[in-house]
Amino acid sequence: MRTLTVLTLISLLAPGSRAADDILIADFEGTDYGDWKVTGEAFGPGPARGTLPGQMPVDGFKGKGLVNTFFHGDKSTGTLTSPEFKIERKYIAFLIGGGKDPEKLALNLLVDGKVVRSATGPNDKAGGSETLAPDSWDVTELAGKKAVIQIVDNATGGWGHINVDHIVQTDKKPPGLLTNAKREFVVEKRYLNIPIKNGAKQRVVTLLVDGKPFVRNDIELADGKPDWWAPMDVSAWKGKTVALVVDKLTEDSAALKQIEPSDALKDADKLYAEPLRGQFHFSPKRGWANDPNGMVFFNGEYHLFFQHNPYGWNWGNMHWGHAVSKDMVHWEELGDKLMPDNLGPIFSGSAVVDTDNTSGFGTKEKPPLVLIYTAAGNPTTQCIAYSTDGRTFTKYDKNPVVKQVTGGNRDPKVMWHAATKRWVMVLYVELKGKHTIHFFTSPNLKDWTLASVLDGGTNGKDGYLFECPDLFELPIDGDAKNRKWVLLGANSEYALGTFDGTAFKPEKTWLPGHRGRGFYAPQTFSDIPTSDGRRIQIGWFQTATPGMPFNQSMSIPQELKLVTTPDAPRLSRTPVKELAALRTVTYHFHAANLNAETGNWLDKIKAELLEIHADFSPGADTVTTFNIRGATVVYDAKKQELVVNGHRAPAPLSKDGQQKLTIFCDRTGLEVFASDGLTYVPMPMNLKADNLALAMTAKGGTVKVTALTVHELKSVWKAK
Ligand code: FRU
Repeated sequence: MRTLTVLTLISLLAPGSRAADDILIADFEGTDYGDWKVTGEAFGPGPARGTLPGQMPVDGFKGKGLVNTFFHGDKSTGTLTSPEFKIERKYIAFLIGGGKDPEKLALNLLVDGKVVRSATGPNDKAGGSETLAPDSWDVTELAGKKAVIQIVDNATGGWGHINVDHIVQTDKKPPGLLTNAKREFVVEKRYLNIPIKNGAKQRVVTLLVDGKPFVRNDIELADGKPDWWAPMDVSAWKGKTVALVVDKLTEDSAALKQIEPSDALKDADKLYAEPLRGQFHFSPKRGWANDPNGMVFFNGEYHLFFQHNPYGWNWGNMHWGHAVSKDMVHWEELGDKLMPDNLGPIFSGSAVVDTDNTSGFGTKEKPPLVLIYTAAGNPTTQCIAYSTDGRTFTKYDKNPVVKQVTGGNRDPKVMWHAATKRWVMVLYVELKGKHTIHFFTSPNLKDWTLASVLDGGTNGKDGYLFECPDLFELPIDGDAKNRKWVLLGANSEYALGTFDGTAFKPEKTWLPGHRGRGFYAPQTFSDIPTSDGRRIQIGWFQTATPGMPFNQSMSIPQELKLVTTPDAPRLSRTPVKELAALRTVTYHFHAANLNAETGNWLDKIKAELLEIHADFSPGADTVTTFNIRGATVVYDAKKQELVVNGHRAPAPLSKDGQQKLTIFCDRTGLEVFASDGLTYVPMPMNLKADNLALAMTAKGGTVKVTALTVHELKSVWKAK
């Protein structure tokens, strides 16, 4: 008996002895919450089976069910409370995701009715990820106490939901956290390739140069196997010592260890050959892109800067990425040019060529290229940077050049106003809950004076004249003597009016922009030579590319014109002629009649990348359908509507009853132009690689096809 007791004691104390088994508090695998108590609506009738309608994909939970308070969207609220249990292990571990708001979105541990431990989700800005991540509390000091767990959702705005799963009591210590974990590098190679795991906990990663903090990014570092690698360009510090410092890192993380110095991007062999890489739409090599910025023609090149998160698949860490092109179609991405600094992350803005060197940043012979951007810190201000070679950029040492008006001031678009010989800046300013455009003038791009304020006349709920304004003058029907000014907002709705260099006087407001989906924050090129004279716009084409090391892209470039319509002048859009360089094989069809009996004319064509032109006079009740690799583009003659994948857009026939369609099809979506460019329907969607079928059919009568051309296109990436 005695001996036995001693043996038992020894085995309990021996190192590596088995810890007590975990106690499951909840795995949310049932169809209801069992004896947990629910209040409000947010928790739904029972645990969610993964993603809820309208939600980004949710993952990282265990099994099939989880708590997901996105039931009826972000606005719903409620609580979920466990029955009482005894704290019998050292740790309570769980998986958590969703919105970040320690007060309104919480997983709480309560003892005697008081919150003794609390956790919230990771997201507090647009973008983000719905991935649940492990977290835990050390509850050693609460051993033996009675406790309850309560999940609270009192948040109603963006990210107003919380996700929780797999709550267990355990004695297994979750790996500890190291603070300010550091790795130093003597810079010999161009890049540090950084391992990224989408949805992993965001860490604050600071780059130190010679021991001093240079730039700080929030990065979902991969502790284990990465989803992809993000290059950080450190070539500016060749020979010097740089270091990466991570605010918190689990002891067992391999994140810092696996960073790889190299002159090449890791996995460079797969670059531009990725299955969801748009083949004639610009997208970043790595990371996230949103608005096009700083679009300008300088020294024989088109420049495209863009909102870039170099280190994440979602929005964040705003840098200005940079690409150049000779034709707006083939782009070479050069790397990030503006990095976040003490004044904040670098939000949207524009670029101009300072031909007369008014800024003094260059010379008359070598005029500078000047970038004007928003530094989105606190305060949020407008700043400038310059370059004379279009490759290296220097931030102005007296930034900012425009002080904060309100925290919601951003996206400066600058132009030279020839008549008054000054620079004009249009700036979006959210003022007392309203969208306004502020007009500033400057002799030199450095000193700015407020000239006027235009009230968007909105209550802030709609998108008219919200963010990313653009201002330019266009001739009506090409008549240089008859011109109007166009003022456009991020959703591409616009006003037409007059502009005297000081104030914009709208004559027509709330004019409709694009008619599709996923097109935002477009901008037009500055400084296109007068010999060319076109006004060319590119927008953010919101193509989501899951599984790829990059996300989002830019629309095809399109020429904007003002044309007379039965309503008065309106903006029309035409794909730029430079795109014709991508045509490989062309199929011309004879004019002919199409009806239910004629079958499919296009059944011989099998191609991935397409440009289709169809001019036709549809019979009054006809429905003309293009089936393009599984996507549908339908013209409904009775309603005079274009229907792209079920999405309807008005597309009137011309006076003589004609419809003219231009359809571009890339791997990541369609862009459809109808009614002589008055209707533009962008439609991001990932087409199935193995579906190359093409069809054009009609029913409900006869469609007189006067011209039909199909071009197969080649990739801009392979054509280098
Ligand atoms: C528009 C926008 C801009 C801002 C930028 C930040 O998409 O919200 O207003 O400058 O994106 O990335």
